[in-house]
Amino acid sequence: MKRITMFTIATFTVLYAASLALSADAVDTPGGPASRAARGKYLVTAMGCNDCHTPWKVGPNGPEPDMTKMLSGHPQEFKLPAAPAAKGPWLWQAAATNTAFAGPWGVSYAANLTPDTHTGLGIWTEDIFVKAIRTGKHFGTSRPIQPPMPWPAFRNLNDEDLKSIYAYLRVIPPVKNLVPDYAPPKEPAQKLASAAKPERSGK
Ligand code: HEC
Repeated sequence: MKRITMFTIATFTVLYAASLALSADAVDTPGGPASRAARGKYLVTAMGCNDCHTPWKVGPNGPEPDMTKMLSGHPQEFKLPAAPAAKGPWLWQAAATNTAFAGPWGVSYAANLTPDTHTGLGIWTEDIFVKAIRTGKHFGTSRPIQPPMPWPAFRNLNDEDLKSIYAYLRVIPPVKNLVPDYAPPKEPAQKLASAAKPERSGK
C-alpha cells in the first residue's frame, strides 16, 4: 500500500513538472506566442514592411514612414487621380506616401496589416496569412497579390518565421483605415510591359 502511494506521488510529481514545463513553453520559450511576436517584430522591422505598408510623411531629414500610422496601409483619405499611362522605360510609379503603386499590373494599394477587425487583418487566421505569403494569392485563396508586394521573396521564409510575423501583426495597435481595392489595368499587362523593351527605350 505504502509502495503504491509513493509510486502515485512520484507519478503526479513528474506529471506536474511536465505540465509546468508545457505552460512555460506557451509563454516565452522559443515557439511560444511571446517569443514569436518578438521575433516577428524583428523580422518586420528588418524586412522593410514599413516601407510600403506605413504611409510616408516628410520628416526633418526627408520622407520617412509615419509611425503613428504604423502598418495601416494606404490612407483612405488620400484620394488619388487616375494613374498616368504606363509607358516605358520608366514603367511604374509610386504615390508620395509610398503606399499606392501604378504599373502594368494596374494600381495596387498597400494593405492594412493592423489587427483592426473590419479594415485590417482582424479576421485573418495564421493559416490564411501563411498561405497568402506562400502562394501569392489574396487571402490565401483568391486573386494574385500584385507588385510590388515582394511575396515571391518572402515565400522563402520558413513556417516559424511566417508565424512569428503573423504573431507580431496581431499585437500591434489596430488602425481603422479602409484601403481602396486593387484596380486592374485597362489594357492587358502583356502589351504594356512590352513598352519597356530595352530596344525601344531612349529613342
Ligand atoms: C515594396 C512594397 C512592399 C513591401 C516592402 C511589403 N509589401 Fe505587403 N503589400 C504591398 C502591396 C502594394 C500590397 C497590395 C497588393 C495587392 O493588392 O494585390 C501588399 C499586400 C500585402 C498583404 C495582403 C495580401 C492579400 O492577401 O491581400 C500582406 C499580408 C502583406 N502585404 C504583408 C507584408 C509583410 C508582412 C511585409 C514585410 C515582411 C510586406 N508586406 C512588405 C507592398 C509591399
